[in-house]
Amino acid sequence: MENTPWWKQRVIYQIYPMSFKDSNGDGVGDLRGIIEKLDYIRDLGAGAIWLSPVYDSPMEDNGYDISDYYSINPLFGTMRDMDELISEAHRRDLKIIMDLVLNHTSNQHEWFRKSVEDIEPYNDFYIWKPPINGKKPNNWNGFFGGDVWEYVPARGEYYLHLFGKGQPDLNYRNPLLLDEIKKMLKFWLDKGVDGFRCDVINILYKESFENGRFGLPRGLEHYRSTIGNHRILQYLQETVFRPYHAFTVGESVLVTPEEANNYVAGEERELDQIFYFDHLCSNQIVVKWFRKKFVPAVFQKQIVNWMNAVDWNANSLESHDQPRSVSCFGNDGRYLSSSAKMLGMLLLSLRGTPYLYQGEEIGMTNFPFRIPEDVRDLEALNALRIAKKIGIPAHVRQKMIWSVSRDNARTPVQWDSSHNAGFSQNAPWIPVNPNYDTVNINNQIKEEDSVLNFYKRMIALRNTDEVLRLGDFQLSSCGEIFDFRRSLSGSTYRILLNFTEKKQQKSNVEGIILISTLGDHKGPAGILSPYEGLIIKETVYHEKM
Ligand code: GLC
Repeated sequence: MENTPWWKQRVIYQIYPMSFKDSNGDGVGDLRGIIEKLDYIRDLGAGAIWLSPVYDSPMEDNGYDISDYYSINPLFGTMRDMDELISEAHRRDLKIIMDLVLNHTSNQHEWFRKSVEDIEPYNDFYIWKPPINGKKPNNWNGFFGGDVWEYVPARGEYYLHLFGKGQPDLNYRNPLLLDEIKKMLKFWLDKGVDGFRCDVINILYKESFENGRFGLPRGLEHYRSTIGNHRILQYLQETVFRPYHAFTVGESVLVTPEEANNYVAGEERELDQIFYFDHLCSNQIVVKWFRKKFVPAVFQKQIVNWMNAVDWNANSLESHDQPRSVSCFGNDGRYLSSSAKMLGMLLLSLRGTPYLYQGEEIGMTNFPFRIPEDVRDLEALNALRIAKKIGIPAHVRQKMIWSVSRDNARTPVQWDSSHNAGFSQNAPWIPVNPNYDTVNINNQIKEEDSVLNFYKRMIALRNTDEVLRLGDFQLSSCGEIFDFRRSLSGSTYRILLNFTEKKQQKSNVEGIILISTLGDHKGPAGILSPYEGLIIKETVYHEKM
C-alpha cells in the first residue's frame, strides 16, 4: 500500500554494540564490527537497525549513561566510523535508529559537572532538592532498587536519580534544557539517522515531589505519563521529529494500553509506536526477580490485549533488558531449535513492527551462570546486594537473579565455533555462552533446517506479503496452541503455534500451508508436531459462513 510508512513495512534488528562484533581485539564490540556485518543483517531480511547507545559514556549502565551526546565512545570507534556506518547502512537500504536517552545523563556529563558547581545556566539542568529536616526530600525508590537521592556537599542539596547513582535525572521544567535537546536531535538527524528509540520516555516530567504511596517503584504516580510529559513530546514532535520525518518508538515504564494510545493514536501522535512488555512479565511475581511457572495462555492473553487495544504496536520477545526468549517461553534443551522457530513465527506474524534482537535469530539461550564473578550488570549487582542485605541465602539469591539478569542477553553474538565464538580475538568483556560450538551463525548458514534459515524464510515471506504485514488481527484461542488470524482484502491467514512439547491436534483447519517451522509439514494441517508453528492460507472464509 502506497502510503504506508516504512516502519510498518520493515523488520527492525536491534544491535547491542558491546556484544555484537569486536573488530580491534579489545574484547568489546564496535562500530567497525557492525559495518563488517551489515551484509549479514541485510541478508537476514531486516530493513532497519536500532543501535543501543554508542555515545561517549563512562559505561556505568553500558551507555545508557551518556556523558556527551555529540561524540562516540572511543570503545566503539570514532565519529568517522559512525558516519560510515550510516552511509554503508543506507547503501544497503537499511535505516538507522539511534537510542535516545533523554531522562538522564551520566554524572560525568559536562552539564552535570557545571550543575554541581552551581554554574548558570546548568545549575538548573538537573533535579536538585534541599534536605528536609536533615533528611532526603521524599520516600521514592528507584528502578534499580534502593535510593533515588544522592547528597552533594558542594551544593548542600540532593539530586534525583531514578536509575543508577551515576545517572542524574534531567529537569524538564527548564526550557533551556529543551533547547539543548532540540539542538542535539537535529545534529543527529542532519547526519542522516532515520529515527530514535526513546528510552524510558514516559517519565521525563516530574509533576510533584510529594512522598509516594506504596508501590514499585515508590513515587511512580508523581512522574509516569504526566501532562507535562505529553507536552514535551508534542513539542519535540512539532519542532523536530515531524519536520524531519523522523521515526520514533518509545520505551516506557509500566505503561498500559490506554496510556500507550495517548502517545501513538491519532494524527497528532507524539510517538509512532510504543513497546509493551506485559507478556514478557507474565511469569513474574510483582518484581522481575520472582518468577512463577510459564503458562502459555497467560502470556498469549497479554499479547492479545495489546493487539486489540492498540492499532500498531512495537512487538518484541527480546532486547538487551530481557533474558533470552527461548529459555523463558520455549524449551532451550531438547526443543531448542523447534521452539526458537515457533517463537520467531509468533514475532513475525503479529500485527505491528517486529523487533528482533541480535542472536534471537539463531536461538541464543540464557547463560549458564556458575560463579558470581560472571555477573556484569548494574541492575543485577544491585539486586544481589539488596538480597544479601535482607538475608536471602547466597545460593537462593544467585539462582533468582542469574536466570533473569540482563546479562543473559548481553553475552557475545555467536558467529562461529572458533575461539570466543568469532566475536573477538581476545577475552570478551562478558563470558561467551559455552554452547557457541553448536549454536552459531556459521553453522546455521550451512544447515538448511536451522533457526537462522527459518528466520530468513519467514522474514522474506513477511516482506513480500501484505496480509502478514498489514492485516487485521483476530484471536481464535489461547492455550497450548495459540490460534489467531490475520486478514486483509478478503484473504485470511490462520496462524497456529504449538507452545508444548506434545503433538497437538486442531479441528476445522482448512487451507494451503504457506510455511511451517518444520520446513516440510507432512500430513493434515490440523496436526502439529511439538513446538511447531504453521501459517495457513484459508480457503474457507469463516466470517462469511
Ligand atoms: C532503559 C534501557 C535500559 C537502561 C534504562 C536506564 O530501560 O533499555 O537498558 O538501563 O533505560 O537508562
